[in-house]
Amino acid sequence: MNAKLTQFITRRNFLRFGVGGAATLAGAGLLGKAAQAQDTSPMPTPSHAGVDHSQHPGMLVGAVDHERNGFDPMQMLVDWDYGVVSTLPNGQTLREYNIYAADMDIEIAPGLFFPAWTFNNRVPGPSLRCTEGDRIRILFTNVGSHPHTLHFHGFHTAEMDGTPGIGRGEIQVAENFTYEFDAEPFGCHHYHCHALPLKRHIHKGLYAAFVIDPKVGRPPAREFMMMMNAFDTNFDGENEIYAVNTVGHEFMRRPIPVKVGELIRIYLINMVEFDPINSFHLHAHFFDYYDHGTTLEPTLRMVDTIMQAQAQRGILEFRLRWPGKYMFHAHVTEFTELGWMGLFNAVEEADWQAALAEVGLDEEWDRKGTQSSTVEYQGEVES
Ligand code: CU
Ligand code: CU
Repeated sequence: MNAKLTQFITRRNFLRFGVGGAATLAGAGLLGKAAQAQDTSPMPTPSHAGVDHSQHPGMLVGAVDHERNGFDPMQMLVDWDYGVVSTLPNGQTLREYNIYAADMDIEIAPGLFFPAWTFNNRVPGPSLRCTEGDRIRILFTNVGSHPHTLHFHGFHTAEMDGTPGIGRGEIQVAENFTYEFDAEPFGCHHYHCHALPLKRHIHKGLYAAFVIDPKVGRPPAREFMMMMNAFDTNFDGENEIYAVNTVGHEFMRRPIPVKVGELIRIYLINMVEFDPINSFHLHAHFFDYYDHGTTLEPTLRMVDTIMQAQAQRGILEFRLRWPGKYMFHAHVTEFTELGWMGLFNAVEEADWQAALAEVGLDEEWDRKGTQSSTVEYQGEVES
Protein backbone atom coordinates (compact mmCIF):
# COMPACT_ATOMS: atom_id res chain seq x y z
CA MET A 1 0.00 0.00 0.00
CA ASN A 2 2.66 2.47 1.03
CA ALA A 3 4.87 1.42 -1.83
CA LYS A 4 1.97 1.65 -4.22
CA LEU A 5 0.96 5.11 -3.14
CA THR A 6 4.55 6.35 -3.17
CA GLN A 7 4.91 5.02 -6.66
CA PHE A 8 1.67 6.74 -7.60
CA ILE A 9 2.97 10.02 -6.26
CA THR A 10 6.50 9.85 -7.65
CA ARG A 11 5.10 8.91 -11.02
CA ARG A 12 2.67 11.78 -11.06
CA ASN A 13 4.53 13.33 -13.95
CA PHE A 14 3.18 10.53 -16.05
CA LEU A 15 -0.34 11.32 -15.02
CA ARG A 16 -2.25 13.76 -17.09
CA PHE A 17 -3.68 16.55 -15.04
CA GLY A 18 -6.36 18.94 -16.23
CA VAL A 19 -5.34 21.90 -18.29
CA GLY A 20 -7.06 24.37 -15.96
CA GLY A 21 -5.03 25.76 -13.05
CA ALA A 22 -7.73 24.89 -10.55
CA ALA A 23 -7.85 21.29 -11.66
CA THR A 24 -4.08 21.01 -11.47
CA LEU A 25 -4.03 22.46 -7.98
CA ALA A 26 -6.80 20.13 -6.92
CA GLY A 27 -4.80 17.23 -8.28
CA ALA A 28 -1.71 18.33 -6.39
CA GLY A 29 -3.84 18.77 -3.29
CA LEU A 30 -5.14 15.24 -3.56
CA LEU A 31 -1.65 13.83 -3.82
CA GLY A 32 -0.36 15.96 -0.95
CA LYS A 33 -3.21 14.98 1.28
CA ALA A 34 -2.92 11.30 0.46
CA ALA A 35 0.82 11.40 1.03
CA GLN A 36 0.33 13.10 4.38
CA ALA A 37 -2.17 10.51 5.46
CA GLN A 38 0.26 7.77 4.58
CA ASP A 39 3.35 9.28 6.13
CA THR A 40 1.84 9.84 9.55
CA SER A 41 -0.32 7.58 11.67
CA PRO A 42 -2.90 5.14 10.30
CA MET A 43 -6.13 6.59 8.90
CA PRO A 44 -8.46 7.83 11.60
CA THR A 45 -11.49 5.55 11.65
CA PRO A 46 -14.65 7.25 10.44
CA SER A 47 -17.40 7.33 13.02
CA HIS A 48 -20.61 5.54 12.14
CA ALA A 49 -22.96 8.45 11.90
CA GLY A 50 -22.85 12.18 11.61
CA VAL A 51 -19.68 12.18 9.55
CA ASP A 52 -18.70 15.67 8.52
CA HIS A 53 -17.71 14.63 5.03
CA SER A 54 -16.28 18.01 4.09
CA GLN A 55 -13.71 17.53 6.85
CA HIS A 56 -13.18 13.83 6.40
CA PRO A 57 -9.49 13.00 6.65
CA GLY A 58 -7.83 11.26 3.76
CA MET A 59 -10.51 12.32 1.29
CA LEU A 60 -9.73 13.25 -2.25
CA VAL A 61 -9.77 17.04 -2.41
CA GLY A 62 -11.79 19.01 -4.93
CA ALA A 63 -14.49 17.97 -7.36
CA VAL A 64 -14.54 16.16 -10.70
CA ASP A 65 -16.02 18.05 -13.64
CA HIS A 66 -18.91 15.73 -14.57
CA GLU A 67 -19.94 17.96 -17.42
CA ARG A 68 -16.58 17.60 -19.08
CA ASN A 69 -16.70 13.84 -18.51
CA GLY A 70 -20.19 13.76 -19.99
CA PHE A 71 -21.47 11.49 -17.21
CA ASP A 72 -22.25 11.79 -13.50
CA PRO A 73 -21.88 8.86 -11.07
CA MET A 74 -25.01 10.07 -9.25
CA GLN A 75 -27.05 9.91 -12.46
CA MET A 76 -25.54 6.53 -13.31
CA LEU A 77 -27.22 5.15 -10.19
CA VAL A 78 -30.63 5.57 -11.82
CA ASP A 79 -29.88 5.87 -15.50
CA TRP A 80 -31.08 2.81 -17.46
CA ASP A 81 -31.04 2.23 -21.20
CA TYR A 82 -34.24 0.40 -22.18
CA GLY A 83 -33.37 0.40 -25.89
CA VAL A 84 -35.75 1.16 -28.73
CA VAL A 85 -38.78 -1.01 -28.00
CA SER A 86 -41.02 -2.69 -30.58
CA THR A 87 -42.94 -5.94 -30.95
CA LEU A 88 -41.91 -8.83 -33.18
CA PRO A 89 -44.54 -10.68 -35.30
CA ASN A 90 -44.52 -13.51 -32.74
CA GLY A 91 -45.49 -11.04 -30.00
CA GLN A 92 -42.10 -10.96 -28.38
CA THR A 93 -40.75 -7.59 -27.20
CA LEU A 94 -37.73 -6.46 -29.18
CA ARG A 95 -35.21 -4.06 -27.65
CA GLU A 96 -32.61 -2.56 -29.94
CA TYR A 97 -29.49 -0.90 -28.61
CA ASN A 98 -26.60 0.97 -30.17
CA ILE A 99 -23.27 0.52 -28.49
CA TYR A 100 -19.94 1.81 -29.71
CA ALA A 101 -16.45 1.45 -28.32
CA ALA A 102 -14.42 4.66 -28.28
CA ASP A 103 -11.24 5.96 -26.66
CA MET A 104 -11.74 8.85 -24.27
CA ASP A 105 -9.87 10.55 -21.42
CA ILE A 106 -11.99 10.60 -18.28
CA GLU A 107 -11.47 12.34 -14.94
CA ILE A 108 -11.62 9.66 -12.22
CA ALA A 109 -10.54 11.80 -9.25
CA PRO A 110 -10.23 15.57 -8.98
CA GLY A 111 -7.64 16.60 -11.54
CA LEU A 112 -6.66 13.01 -12.33
CA PHE A 113 -7.30 11.81 -15.88
CA PHE A 114 -7.33 8.26 -17.21
CA PRO A 115 -7.04 7.31 -20.89
CA ALA A 116 -10.11 5.08 -20.93
CA TRP A 117 -11.67 2.81 -23.50
CA THR A 118 -15.40 3.31 -23.23
CA PHE A 119 -18.78 2.08 -24.36
CA ASN A 120 -20.74 5.14 -25.56
CA ASN A 121 -18.23 7.57 -24.04
CA ARG A 122 -18.85 6.59 -20.45
CA VAL A 123 -17.42 4.28 -17.80
CA PRO A 124 -19.23 2.11 -16.99
CA GLY A 125 -21.06 1.88 -20.32
CA PRO A 126 -24.85 2.17 -20.63
CA SER A 127 -26.79 0.09 -18.09
CA LEU A 128 -29.02 -2.08 -20.26
CA ARG A 129 -32.36 -3.05 -18.81
CA CYS A 130 -35.02 -5.41 -20.13
CA THR A 131 -37.52 -8.08 -19.16
CA GLU A 132 -36.89 -11.80 -19.03
CA GLY A 133 -37.70 -13.27 -22.46
CA ASP A 134 -37.24 -10.06 -24.47
CA ARG A 135 -35.33 -10.27 -27.73
CA ILE A 136 -32.15 -8.19 -27.40
CA ARG A 137 -30.49 -6.82 -30.52
CA ILE A 138 -27.33 -4.76 -30.15
CA LEU A 139 -25.59 -3.06 -33.03
CA PHE A 140 -21.98 -2.81 -31.88
CA THR A 141 -19.61 -0.45 -33.69
CA ASN A 142 -15.93 -0.17 -32.94
CA VAL A 143 -14.72 3.40 -33.32
CA GLY A 144 -11.85 2.84 -30.89
CA SER A 145 -8.20 2.16 -31.60
CA HIS A 146 -8.12 -1.59 -30.82
CA PRO A 147 -10.24 -4.63 -31.69
CA HIS A 148 -13.06 -5.16 -29.16
CA THR A 149 -16.06 -7.40 -28.55
CA LEU A 150 -19.28 -7.41 -26.56
CA HIS A 151 -19.40 -10.36 -24.22
CA PHE A 152 -22.65 -10.69 -22.28
CA HIS A 153 -23.21 -12.80 -19.21
CA GLY A 154 -26.43 -14.72 -19.81
CA PHE A 155 -27.74 -17.56 -21.97
CA HIS A 156 -26.88 -17.28 -25.67
CA THR A 157 -25.30 -19.22 -28.53
CA ALA A 158 -21.53 -19.46 -29.05
CA GLU A 159 -21.76 -17.11 -32.05
CA MET A 160 -23.22 -14.39 -29.82
CA ASP A 161 -20.68 -14.82 -27.03
CA GLY A 162 -18.21 -12.14 -28.17
CA THR A 163 -15.18 -14.35 -27.61
CA PRO A 164 -12.03 -14.05 -29.78
CA GLY A 165 -11.80 -16.85 -32.34
CA ILE A 166 -15.41 -17.96 -31.96
CA GLY A 167 -18.12 -16.86 -34.40
CA ARG A 168 -17.33 -13.36 -35.57
CA GLY A 169 -14.77 -13.00 -32.73
CA GLU A 170 -13.04 -9.66 -32.35
CA ILE A 171 -14.66 -6.71 -34.07
CA GLN A 172 -11.93 -4.78 -35.81
CA VAL A 173 -11.57 -1.00 -35.76
CA ALA A 174 -14.21 0.68 -37.97
CA GLU A 175 -16.24 -2.54 -38.20
CA ASN A 176 -19.53 -3.50 -36.64
CA PHE A 177 -21.52 -6.54 -35.65
CA THR A 178 -25.03 -7.23 -34.41
CA TYR A 179 -25.39 -9.39 -31.34
CA GLU A 180 -28.81 -10.93 -30.83
CA PHE A 181 -30.26 -13.23 -28.18
CA ASP A 182 -33.17 -13.67 -25.78
CA ALA A 183 -32.77 -12.15 -22.33
CA GLU A 184 -32.36 -14.93 -19.78
CA PRO A 185 -32.04 -15.74 -16.97
CA PHE A 186 -33.46 -12.79 -15.04
CA GLY A 187 -30.85 -11.27 -12.78
CA CYS A 188 -28.16 -8.71 -12.20
CA HIS A 189 -25.69 -9.30 -14.99
CA HIS A 190 -23.16 -7.32 -16.96
CA TYR A 191 -21.34 -7.19 -20.25
CA HIS A 192 -17.77 -6.40 -21.10
CA CYS A 193 -15.24 -6.53 -23.87
CA HIS A 194 -13.56 -9.93 -24.19
CA ALA A 195 -10.70 -9.00 -26.54
CA LEU A 196 -7.20 -9.99 -25.46
CA PRO A 197 -5.39 -9.21 -23.24
CA LEU A 198 -8.61 -9.35 -21.25
CA LYS A 199 -7.17 -7.64 -18.18
CA ARG A 200 -6.31 -4.58 -20.19
CA HIS A 201 -9.58 -4.39 -22.07
CA ILE A 202 -11.57 -4.64 -18.86
CA HIS A 203 -9.62 -2.28 -16.64
CA LYS A 204 -9.54 0.36 -19.38
CA GLY A 205 -13.30 0.73 -18.86
CA LEU A 206 -15.15 -1.60 -21.25
CA TYR A 207 -17.88 -2.98 -18.96
CA ALA A 208 -21.43 -2.14 -17.91
CA ALA A 209 -24.54 -3.42 -16.17
CA PHE A 210 -27.12 -5.68 -17.82
CA VAL A 211 -30.22 -6.15 -15.69
CA ILE A 212 -32.99 -8.54 -16.68
CA ASP A 213 -36.20 -8.04 -14.69
CA PRO A 214 -38.14 -11.20 -13.78
CA LYS A 215 -41.51 -11.46 -15.57
CA VAL A 216 -43.29 -11.28 -12.21
CA GLY A 217 -41.30 -8.17 -11.23
CA ARG A 218 -39.86 -7.28 -7.86
CA PRO A 219 -41.53 -5.25 -5.10
CA PRO A 220 -41.41 -1.48 -5.72
CA ALA A 221 -38.20 0.08 -4.40
CA ARG A 222 -35.73 2.86 -4.91
CA GLU A 223 -33.17 1.23 -7.18
CA PHE A 224 -29.51 2.01 -7.76
CA MET A 225 -26.90 0.56 -10.10
CA MET A 226 -23.52 0.43 -8.40
CA MET A 227 -20.51 -0.66 -10.41
CA MET A 228 -17.47 -1.25 -8.24
CA ASN A 229 -14.50 -0.34 -10.40
CA ALA A 230 -10.87 0.76 -10.20
CA PHE A 231 -8.17 2.29 -12.33
CA ASP A 232 -4.52 1.50 -12.83
CA THR A 233 -3.38 5.01 -13.68
CA ASN A 234 0.32 4.21 -14.16
CA PHE A 235 -0.11 0.81 -15.84
CA ASP A 236 1.92 -1.15 -13.27
CA GLY A 237 -0.76 -3.82 -12.85
CA GLU A 238 -2.14 -2.30 -9.63
CA ASN A 239 -4.99 0.12 -9.07
CA GLU A 240 -4.51 3.65 -7.76
CA ILE A 241 -8.15 4.77 -7.65
CA TYR A 242 -11.15 2.70 -6.50
CA ALA A 243 -14.77 3.76 -6.78
CA VAL A 244 -18.41 3.01 -7.27
CA ASN A 245 -19.42 4.36 -10.69
CA THR A 246 -15.91 5.53 -11.56
CA VAL A 247 -15.28 8.71 -9.56
CA GLY A 248 -13.37 8.21 -6.30
CA HIS A 249 -15.12 9.48 -3.14
CA GLU A 250 -17.93 11.05 -5.19
CA PHE A 251 -20.61 9.80 -2.80
CA MET A 252 -18.69 11.09 0.21
CA ARG A 253 -18.79 14.54 -1.30
CA ARG A 254 -22.40 14.09 -2.44
CA PRO A 255 -24.26 11.69 -0.11
CA ILE A 256 -26.98 9.71 -1.91
CA PRO A 257 -30.45 10.87 -0.78
CA VAL A 258 -32.85 8.13 0.33
CA LYS A 259 -35.98 8.17 2.45
CA VAL A 260 -36.15 6.69 5.93
CA GLY A 261 -37.97 3.35 5.84
CA GLU A 262 -38.29 2.94 2.08
CA LEU A 263 -37.10 -0.24 0.38
CA ILE A 264 -33.72 0.28 -1.30
CA ARG A 265 -32.48 -2.14 -3.93
CA ILE A 266 -28.92 -2.06 -5.20
CA TYR A 267 -27.70 -3.84 -8.30
CA LEU A 268 -24.10 -4.34 -7.25
CA ILE A 269 -21.43 -5.48 -9.69
CA ASN A 270 -17.71 -5.91 -9.19
CA MET A 271 -15.51 -5.22 -12.21
CA VAL A 272 -12.30 -4.40 -10.34
CA GLU A 273 -9.30 -5.86 -12.15
CA PHE A 274 -5.99 -6.83 -10.47
CA ASP A 275 -7.49 -7.29 -6.97
CA PRO A 276 -9.13 -10.71 -6.49
CA ILE A 277 -11.80 -9.67 -3.96
CA ASN A 278 -13.94 -6.62 -3.44
CA SER A 279 -16.67 -6.08 -0.87
CA PHE A 280 -19.59 -3.92 0.15
CA HIS A 281 -20.28 -3.06 3.76
CA LEU A 282 -23.27 -1.06 4.97
CA HIS A 283 -23.08 0.84 8.23
CA ALA A 284 -25.59 0.49 11.05
CA HIS A 285 -27.98 -1.76 9.09
CA PHE A 286 -28.26 -5.23 7.56
CA PHE A 287 -29.44 -6.28 4.12
CA ASP A 288 -30.75 -9.28 2.20
CA TYR A 289 -28.67 -10.47 -0.73
CA TYR A 290 -29.62 -12.22 -3.97
CA ASP A 291 -26.53 -13.81 -5.48
CA HIS A 292 -26.43 -12.99 -9.21
CA GLY A 293 -30.01 -11.75 -8.82
CA THR A 294 -31.22 -14.98 -10.37
CA THR A 295 -33.68 -15.86 -7.60
CA LEU A 296 -36.80 -14.18 -6.21
CA GLU A 297 -35.90 -15.19 -2.67
CA PRO A 298 -32.73 -13.93 -0.98
CA THR A 299 -29.78 -16.31 -1.02
CA LEU A 300 -28.44 -14.64 2.12
CA ARG A 301 -30.44 -12.88 4.80
CA MET A 302 -29.44 -10.33 7.40
CA VAL A 303 -25.83 -9.62 6.48
CA ASP A 304 -23.99 -6.31 6.57
CA THR A 305 -21.05 -7.23 4.35
CA ILE A 306 -20.89 -9.08 1.08
CA MET A 307 -17.84 -10.02 -0.92
CA GLN A 308 -17.59 -10.34 -4.66
CA ALA A 309 -14.81 -11.71 -6.83
CA GLN A 310 -14.37 -10.09 -10.22
CA ALA A 311 -17.53 -10.28 -12.39
CA GLN A 312 -19.58 -11.45 -9.43
CA ARG A 313 -22.68 -9.45 -8.71
CA GLY A 314 -25.92 -9.50 -6.82
CA ILE A 315 -28.87 -7.55 -5.50
CA LEU A 316 -28.99 -5.96 -2.05
CA GLU A 317 -32.24 -4.96 -0.33
CA PHE A 318 -32.58 -2.95 2.86
CA ARG A 319 -34.36 -0.11 4.64
CA LEU A 320 -32.61 2.57 6.65
CA ARG A 321 -34.35 2.89 10.00
CA TRP A 322 -33.37 6.35 11.17
CA PRO A 323 -32.46 9.68 9.59
CA GLY A 324 -28.77 10.37 9.24
CA LYS A 325 -25.74 9.74 7.13
CA TYR A 326 -24.76 6.10 6.79
CA MET A 327 -21.53 5.06 5.22
CA PHE A 328 -21.09 2.23 2.72
CA HIS A 329 -17.69 1.09 1.55
CA ALA A 330 -15.42 -1.79 0.66
CA HIS A 331 -14.28 -3.56 3.80
CA VAL A 332 -10.82 -3.53 2.30
CA THR A 333 -9.31 -0.47 3.97
CA GLU A 334 -6.89 0.19 1.15
CA PHE A 335 -9.76 0.57 -1.32
CA THR A 336 -11.66 3.00 0.91
CA GLU A 337 -8.68 5.31 1.26
CA LEU A 338 -8.22 5.34 -2.49
CA GLY A 339 -11.81 6.27 -3.26
CA TRP A 340 -14.22 3.41 -2.53
CA MET A 341 -16.52 4.77 0.14
CA GLY A 342 -19.69 6.80 0.15
CA LEU A 343 -22.67 7.89 2.21
CA PHE A 344 -26.42 7.48 2.13
CA ASN A 345 -28.27 10.49 3.44
CA ALA A 346 -31.48 9.09 4.94
CA VAL A 347 -34.10 11.77 5.48
CA GLU A 348 -37.76 12.07 6.43
CA GLU A 349 -40.27 13.07 3.76
CA ALA A 350 -40.24 16.71 4.94
CA ASP A 351 -36.51 17.00 4.27
CA TRP A 352 -36.53 15.21 0.92
CA GLN A 353 -36.41 18.22 -1.40
CA ALA A 354 -33.58 19.77 0.58
CA ALA A 355 -31.59 16.53 0.48
CA LEU A 356 -31.97 16.36 -3.30
CA ALA A 357 -31.01 20.01 -3.77
CA GLU A 358 -27.96 19.67 -1.54
CA VAL A 359 -26.32 17.31 -4.04
CA GLY A 360 -27.68 18.89 -7.22
CA LEU A 361 -30.52 16.45 -7.92
CA ASP A 362 -34.11 16.97 -9.00
CA GLU A 363 -37.50 15.26 -9.25
CA GLU A 364 -36.41 13.46 -12.38
CA TRP A 365 -33.65 11.63 -10.49
CA ASP A 366 -36.24 10.69 -7.86
CA ARG A 367 -38.64 9.43 -10.51
CA LYS A 368 -36.01 7.41 -12.36
CA GLY A 369 -34.85 5.82 -9.11
CA THR A 370 -38.32 4.69 -8.11
CA GLN A 371 -39.73 3.69 -11.51
CA SER A 372 -36.86 1.86 -13.09
CA SER A 373 -38.27 -1.64 -13.49
CA THR A 374 -39.55 -2.77 -16.89
CA VAL A 375 -42.40 -4.72 -15.30
CA GLU A 376 -45.02 -4.02 -12.73
CA TYR A 377 -44.77 -6.17 -9.66
CA GLN A 378 -47.43 -8.86 -9.54
CA GLY A 379 -46.96 -9.98 -5.99
CA GLU A 380 -48.10 -8.53 -2.71
CA VAL A 381 -46.64 -5.22 -1.63
CA GLU A 382 -45.42 -5.10 1.92
CA SER A 383 -46.52 -1.89 3.58
CU1 CU B 1 -11.64 -4.44 -25.91
CU1 CU C 1 -17.24 -11.83 -17.96
